[in-house]
Amino acid sequence: MPITACVFDAYGTLFDVAAAARQAAAEPGREAFAAKWRQIAETWRLKQLQYTWLRAVVDAHTDFWTVTGDGLDFALEEAGLTDPELRERLLSLYWELSAYPEVPEMLGQLKADGYRTAILSNGSPDMLNGAVESADVAALLDAVLSVEDVGVFKPHRRVYDLVGKRFDCAPDEVLFVSSNGWDAAAASGYGFQTLWVNRGGVPMDRLPWTPAHIASDLTGVPDLAGRL
Ligand code: LAC
Repeated sequence: MPITACVFDAYGTLFDVAAAARQAAAEPGREAFAAKWRQIAETWRLKQLQYTWLRAVVDAHTDFWTVTGDGLDFALEEAGLTDPELRERLLSLYWELSAYPEVPEMLGQLKADGYRTAILSNGSPDMLNGAVESADVAALLDAVLSVEDVGVFKPHRRVYDLVGKRFDCAPDEVLFVSSNGWDAAAASGYGFQTLWVNRGGVPMDRLPWTPAHIASDLTGVPDLAGRL
């Protein structure tokens, strides 16, 4: 079926999750953090995601802001850099992450081509609004869908159900785009058409499903949507 809606994961897909740590590392007086920021950013992200999956499995949902702080606490402690001021600075930068450079033009093209556009994210509505506002892309999105409406994290099917409910469409009318291989894979299993944006050239997750398409950035999304 032709695509009628293009739906994006937020963190790591539209918004650069490493930007908070990268920017803090460049600030004066943060030499100890600057020496380890890449490892800290990687552990922060990994723990943040692990906590979402663990909470989904044991039915102990909380909002994504809480697991974001919990993941950061783990990463800072592991690096020997537990410091309340640094923690607060990193979290405030996370609230206003920058979008990848190609995002505004890509979303603008999708709107010009007549697609519905949305974010579907683990993020809580206020976090997502903060990122959407700071990236100045609100006018290019028809919906910002948060897991908070169903009380469980991705890749639970109830999260992907939010798209059909919002746009009144079948799963195969949706092109779902994520930089998280596991998210794109699970969305394929759900029935969406999928694009995995593999910026880092990492291996594919070993799961029962695979993403249908792979790209290294978001620039080709309008072309792909038009070809499906
Ligand atoms: C999100 C995370 C998974 O935005 O990146 O849902």
